[in-house]
Amino acid sequence: MEQIDDYICRYKNYNFVLTVGASAEHIDSLETFHVRDSDIFVVTYPKSGTVWTQQIVILICELDGGLNDYPNNMEQMPWLEYPEGRPGYSLRPSPRLFNSHLSPALMPPELKEKKGKIIYVMRNPKDTVVSFYHFSQICAELENPKTFGDTLERYLEGNVLAGCWFDHIRVWNAARDQYNILFLTYEEMVLDLRAAVIKICSFLGKNLSEAAIKEVVHKSSFKTMKEDRKANYRFAPKERLSGDFLRKGKIGDWKNVFTVAQSERFDQIFQERMADMDLKFIWDSAEQKEEP
Ligand code: PPS
Repeated sequence: MEQIDDYICRYKNYNFVLTVGASAEHIDSLETFHVRDSDIFVVTYPKSGTVWTQQIVILICELDGGLNDYPNNMEQMPWLEYPEGRPGYSLRPSPRLFNSHLSPALMPPELKEKKGKIIYVMRNPKDTVVSFYHFSQICAELENPKTFGDTLERYLEGNVLAGCWFDHIRVWNAARDQYNILFLTYEEMVLDLRAAVIKICSFLGKNLSEAAIKEVVHKSSFKTMKEDRKANYRFAPKERLSGDFLRKGKIGDWKNVFTVAQSERFDQIFQERMADMDLKFIWDSAEQKEEP
């Protein structure tokens, strides 16, 4: 691992959080990680809705009747790349659930045999950088930025956790035919959570009752999750996380933070980097209703 600064280290062309104890040995070990058909991986670029999807998948699996007991969502669905001293992942009973921000090149190759399932969630990069900026102020493992402009520069250079948004989206989309993978956007989840839950159930092959679907939707709404200690990461030690994990949960909060010049520059870079991509982004027209 090459240490880049006090917060980031780089290995195999990917940026890890230094203090969470990423190790080259563990990342290398993923090359021979045996994937089970029942494994579920939620994969995202940071601040795209990981913890939200984590909550949805956990609830679906719980209500489907097949989850082992763990004290909180982090233990139930740990980070693939940051084992943080947990006993070997090969010892975990099925079904195993994992979060990851990794790029395809570092994921267990057996996933390409279409073993296991991946849910990949994307979000408007302008909203992810704003979310990241605020999160950096409460998360001890990330550099506390002086200004939003500083965060934006680092973000555009890819000098942040998981590297550059543009690369992450591009490589995961390019690899989509190789995996058993469902692509979702944060925006579609906000606009119609019930439809997103049904989509995830169907992808996972879980046939939940109407009442169970209603329960998943209720327990994964922003309002309920914000008050739920387990879902809002209030179990995390204060010295690691000094505020609420769930902040605003909105589409388009970037408009409150970006200057016009920053937005225009971002749009230009977006055009240059993503113009050739056959992706339908819905976030420009997405309008969010207020939660009751
Ligand atoms: S991380 O640190 O990468 O795991 O962060 P991640 O979980 O991917 O993203 C955090 C943002 O997701 C928002 N969030 C939600 N939005 C709407 N509804 C629900 N239920 C929900 N749960 C989490 C969270 O508030 C962060 O976005 P911002 O814009 O900062 O509010």
